Amino acid sequence: MPTMQRESSDRSFPDAVVDAFHQRFGRRPEVVVRAPGRVILLGAHVDYSEGWVITGAIDRAVWLAAAPATGSETRIHALDLDANAALDLNRLPPPLVDRDDSRASWVDYPAGVAWALAAAGHRPRAMDVVYGGDVPIGAGVSSSAAVEMAFLLAWEIFAQHEGSAGFGLDGAARARIGMSCENDYLGVMSGIMDQFTSLHGAAGKLIFLDCRSLEHELLPLPESASVLVADSGVRRRLTDFGYNDRRGECREAVVLLLSRLDGIETLRDVSLEDFELHSHILPMTLRRRARHAIEECLRVHEGAAALERGDLAAFGRLIRQSHLSSRDLYEVSIPEIDVLAAAAWAAPGCHGARLVGGGFGGCVMALVETEAAEDVRARMIDTFAREFGKEPEVVACSIADGAGIEPIQD
Ligand code: GLA
Repeated sequence: MPTMQRESSDRSFPDAVVDAFHQRFGRRPEVVVRAPGRVILLGAHVDYSEGWVITGAIDRAVWLAAAPATGSETRIHALDLDANAALDLNRLPPPLVDRDDSRASWVDYPAGVAWALAAAGHRPRAMDVVYGGDVPIGAGVSSSAAVEMAFLLAWEIFAQHEGSAGFGLDGAARARIGMSCENDYLGVMSGIMDQFTSLHGAAGKLIFLDCRSLEHELLPLPESASVLVADSGVRRRLTDFGYNDRRGECREAVVLLLSRLDGIETLRDVSLEDFELHSHILPMTLRRRARHAIEECLRVHEGAAALERGDLAAFGRLIRQSHLSSRDLYEVSIPEIDVLAAAAWAAPGCHGARLVGGGFGGCVMALVETEAAEDVRARMIDTFAREFGKEPEVVACSIADGAGIEPIQD
């Protein structure tokens, strides 16, 4: 499993996958694709309510080297796991929900992308693949979306190679293929922001995304600021914990509120004023979940305005409120994550910190003044070590470009 501690520079990844490809398949890859992980600055658990989010791609990515192959078999070597698999594209394994054992293995991610492409009417062709990278797995920074988008882009490139126009997908359609892989194949009812961010990231910019229309805007992140990602070390599979339940609760809240509010489709459509008027019809748990989603959408808009005027102090306060709401109303945090977030809040030079990803484990993201980053990092490590007896990995990340093809060095 890749760790948070960067053992090698970014540049070593294309070389590592290219060399491994050569060793394994005895030829050179035709393409190398890079697809990054992401952090969520604001917009916790609102993408599946079609709300708004502010995210950024990070300089931790999946690198994939590939070349087309004959027949119907895609042969894959996962460098970090030192594992091999062959996927017969004519006979893909059924979606996880239709299997006796519904635990996903690493190969279910590429299988799910091929399955979702086929379900959308496309025919991915066989290829040989080696992939690896430094996005920590299962830590809330979207290792799965990075893997999905890397495979998708490679399959797309080889579809174009055949002289056809390829699959004809735009960015939104690509992200939807990734979401279908998660929802329909892997059984995780996640939203669209992870894949969208991996594709549309821009160095030094944050993405303000409307998860209904998929319209997005890039917002400036002041140059003096950077991001720390602190790994609690706690891993939870979203299918085993409350993730899908949370999505179900949001749905239930909408169904109940529909008796008072005509035409709402998701919690995004409910104004805070309407919610205050009618929330009493909801059971307490649903009331908390809905309040989080509705207020979080408002925070995202306030956050975008704060970023536009370069007010990181205000942006940071919203990040902190987002964490508190995720903890108290949405109930997706755990003590390890709360301790890391609180340690960052207490450190001078930290604007705000919150859990990233689905919750129940994973990482905390802290937005810091770059010159204070080392001190904030030390505080997070010390406080966590005192509380839990072990040191968390805390790394500085920069906000990076989205997925694309990388040049292959000779
Ligand atoms: C996971 C999901 C995303 C999103 C976040 C919570 O990362 O994959 O779609 O719902 O959780 O904000």
